[in-house]
Amino acid sequence: MPVSSSAHASDVLVIGGGIIGLVTAWRAAQRGFSVTVVDPEPGGGAARVAAGMLAAVTELHHGEQTLLGLNLASAERYPAFAAELAEAAGHDLGYRRCGTLAVALDADDRAHLRELHALQRRSGLDSQWLSGRECRRLEPMLAPGVRGGLRVDGDHQIDPRRLAAALVTACERAGVTLHRDAAERLTVARDRATGAVTRGDAELTAGQVVLAAGSFSGRLAGVPDAVRPPVRPVKGQVVRLTVPPRYAPFLHRTVRAVVRGSEVYLVPRENGELVIGATSEELGWDTTVTAGGVYELLRDAHELVPGLTELPLTETRAGLRPGSPDNAPLLGPTDLDGLLLATGHFRNGVLLTPVTGDVLAHALATGELPEVARPFTPQRFGAAPAASAVGPSAAPAVDTSPAPVPAVRTEQPV
Ligand code: GLY
Repeated sequence: MPVSSSAHASDVLVIGGGIIGLVTAWRAAQRGFSVTVVDPEPGGGAARVAAGMLAAVTELHHGEQTLLGLNLASAERYPAFAAELAEAAGHDLGYRRCGTLAVALDADDRAHLRELHALQRRSGLDSQWLSGRECRRLEPMLAPGVRGGLRVDGDHQIDPRRLAAALVTACERAGVTLHRDAAERLTVARDRATGAVTRGDAELTAGQVVLAAGSFSGRLAGVPDAVRPPVRPVKGQVVRLTVPPRYAPFLHRTVRAVVRGSEVYLVPRENGELVIGATSEELGWDTTVTAGGVYELLRDAHELVPGLTELPLTETRAGLRPGSPDNAPLLGPTDLDGLLLATGHFRNGVLLTPVTGDVLAHALATGELPEVARPFTPQRFGAAPAASAVGPSAAPAVDTSPAPVPAVRTEQPV
């Protein structure tokens, strides 16, 4: 139950104001908790970079069937979640139920897709095998060499920047306090998390603390090693093009492929934006946009859709996915009283936003994880290695705002 606010500044302090921290704060506020979010730039973080695919079926990987259950539970919640959030924020989220087409360009790609199709069928998922000609009938801009593909009508997309902006507004309207500063250190007293001290020297106290700082969650000072989340940054570079009205509709749905072993996807938005992603690089905290990264994305995307060379290139950006040892998130209470985690969402942060909000609000109110989230307890990992193994040894303040990167043009406001 909520703690009396006379004893604490807030019932709940959320460290990190990306989409995961914000959805946790919004859902907690709806349950009657007083909530503070600490972040220098609420609504920033990896969602500024992400393409926003809701791809539970096309991003299925061997060995990730447990994660699939959580991904599907979140995908199922998306229509009602998006409608409720759009209403609360007063603006559209760019949620498009457009489906996805995963295609193969050569015999190796086709064998890979066939295997994915078999795995999907064994997992009871809905996907349909198409010939190259059938793929091109659906998407006439595809290269003539496409050898076949998988049509997945249940994998959709949302604009993560609009999602983040809507969550900021919904939080404000629900009475969440947004403390625009970086958390420097978790405070612990008598074996219980009690809040955080900020870079600006504010002391924020709370009955419960949720650490939701994405890839930075593993480097907050003051977190005892036994409960420090084993998350690491996995860099993703993304390119944004714009489809001029005379070329629209350029693509009708998300198109993706594995080209020479690297995944590439093209996500077309209704506003003309075409997002091409993403690299996957284990380079620590580096968020440099590189010529090589952009070259590989454009080269692979061009093999799929040759006509994109005509489109204006409007933005390049890199962000950090919060990777975990089993690619699945860490959700709920830890072995330190008063400290909960909502981090490690890796490739699925946007997809898992609705279920994460529900799970964390439930955990804050009851101290328990709901059934759907039990496999994702942080306790499954035991004690994490010391901070140096997941990041620099000196733990700096948790500033989740994206590092500045050279961009061809700054992005449009959301
Ligand atoms: N889910 C897409 C990515 O992480 O690149």
